[in-house]
Amino acid sequence: MNDVVLTGDRPTGPLHLGHYFGSLANRVELQDRHPMYVLIADYQVITDRDVPGEIRRHTTELLLDYLAVGIDPAKVTIFQHSAIPELNQLLLPFLSLVSVAELGRNPTVKDEIAHSSQAAVSGLMFTYPVHQAADILFCKGTLVPVGKDQVPHLEVARLVARRFNERYGAVFPLPEAMMGAQPLLKGLDGGKMSKSRGNAIALSATEDETAALIRRARTDSERMITFEEERRPEVANLLTLAGLCLGRSPRELAEEIGDGGAATLKRVVTEAVNEFLRPIRKRRAEADEAEVRQILAQGNDRARERAVRTLDEVRAAMGF
Ligand code: TRP
Repeated sequence: MNDVVLTGDRPTGPLHLGHYFGSLANRVELQDRHPMYVLIADYQVITDRDVPGEIRRHTTELLLDYLAVGIDPAKVTIFQHSAIPELNQLLLPFLSLVSVAELGRNPTVKDEIAHSSQAAVSGLMFTYPVHQAADILFCKGTLVPVGKDQVPHLEVARLVARRFNERYGAVFPLPEAMMGAQPLLKGLDGGKMSKSRGNAIALSATEDETAALIRRARTDSERMITFEEERRPEVANLLTLAGLCLGRSPRELAEEIGDGGAATLKRVVTEAVNEFLRPIRKRRAEADEAEVRQILAQGNDRARERAVRTLDEVRAAMGF
């Protein structure tokens, strides 16, 4: 089977180590084996906030993050919603394929509404999973590397593809979610790692920023370091982080640190993370803005060409 890989991120702030081990490493791996599209999902930014904010800066930063981790624009098509009218136009027929009740049942949307700080829930909040189906289907994507929270959206994409094919003829393959094998990395305070909670190490963080974040990380009062995910989640999470950066087992690291306590643990984690980020920082520093603009322009051209073909097919199948 010749898979086409599609995935994406909202440009809302810097990517962090959770993104790296959750999905970026996987993309770098997949780019040598499959045609791949990476979407900077700029229109999706306005699902849970009133205005897109510093969208240009965030778009540039996101692309720099991609380049820094080794996503190769010669192999991967990197593009933006706002540059591909034909992708966005797919939203219209796709919306006709789902019911309002189905839109309201999406657990990820419900969760986002529950945590939203907006005064009112917009229509886009309910319909963006259908737009995300257009993201995946415009290029006939079949493999979608995502985190667990995105699985309901993948179900929407499959539903849209299936119903379109039933009503109008076989146009779309059914996409599949591909989940990272990595354990979920939590934030340095033990909560969900998130750029907005200040508990994440950004890929663009300096050595000093990284050290400061780890210094403030939560641990516990037991001197002996052990890897016990249930009983000592914060310590276990730090060991997991160091283990991922070093390619070693967290249990083994715990044994080595032993009665060195939290201070030794944090020193080990800091060194591991900084060592790991060194080549990423170096590549990031080598890229310049002109290069970024050119990469995006090229990716947008390629993606648009693909979207035009799919929209033509969709219109023909529907009899327009
Ligand atoms: N919703 C995804 C997120 O918040 C980003 C995204 C947009 C995406 N379109 C996509 C992911 C298509 C996978 C496929 O992380």
